[in-house]
Amino acid sequence: MMLAKYVHDIRTFPEDAVRAWRAAGGTGVRDEIRRRTLDRVGGYVRRFVLEADLSGLVDMPAPDGVDIRPFSGPDWLLLGDMARSHLGPRFHEAAGAGRTCLVAWKQRQAVGYIWFSPAVEVRHESYDLPLPPYTNYIWQIEVIRHERRHGVAAALLSRGLKLSWDEGFQRSWMVVHPKKVGSLRSIARVAPTRVLGTVARIKVLSWMRSWYRSLNAPVPIELTLPR
Ligand SMILES: CC(C)(COP(=O)(O)OP(=O)(O)OC[C@H]1O[C@@H](n2cnc3c(N)ncnc32)[C@H](O)[C@@H]1OP(=O)(O)O)[C@@H](O)C(=O)NCCC(=O)NCCS
Repeated sequence: MMLAKYVHDIRTFPEDAVRAWRAAGGTGVRDEIRRRTLDRVGGYVRRFVLEADLSGLVDMPAPDGVDIRPFSGPDWLLLGDMARSHLGPRFHEAAGAGRTCLVAWKQRQAVGYIWFSPAVEVRHESYDLPLPPYTNYIWQIEVIRHERRHGVAAALLSRGLKLSWDEGFQRSWMVVHPKKVGSLRSIARVAPTRVLGTVARIKVLSWMRSWYRSLNAPVPIELTLPR
């Protein structure tokens, strides 16, 4: 079983590395290497848990020429360079399990996507979080490298959070690395957002534990951003 995973890792690496380079540059290639090495062995990670208040949403229109639409597959290769090999099966399963994906298209090219989930499930998130009632979860967001800093992420979040509000959700949670300034700023741009606490995860081979720790008092996200 483990051996099959390693063979798959090696076989898919060349194509995934090229796609990752085009979609995300050096960071993307490093992620593909890490996924096949360190992440297989284990490690410790700690992330912010954010909460966006959907009653204060700001409408951020998509940039000119970009069209945002729900997408449920089945051909996840249409995500182009953002469709690394491990994502197709995960996205297929997620869509089947009721998660919602929005894709930003520029002409016929996918330039970004975002996923929302009504629940936090360890098999997808690798975290255990106490999601409160009327709260959904922003599972993933990515914008292709050459379209970044043009408002695509803000528009995806704005559209998706508005849909969530229309469905009856009042808040959205998101787990973000404290140093991912782009993600922190993107969510802060579209909704009043607070850091509620942190979630930590320790993993050794297939054994894994995660802990959520709430802060005594939530902190407005603006206070955590570099000036
Ligand atoms: C994070 C990411 C989705 C942002 O996408 P984007 O389309 O470039 O974001 P936008 O252009 O909509 O920018 C939204 C806000 O964030 C800011 N921002 C975006 N990237 C930033 C960065 N790298 N550094 C600082 N600020 C950044 C923008 O200036 C803008 O703020 P402003 O309107 O107040 O000026 C994109 O960088 C990405 O795909 N990163 C790799 C994948 C990833 O990290 N996903 C998140 C996992 S939690």
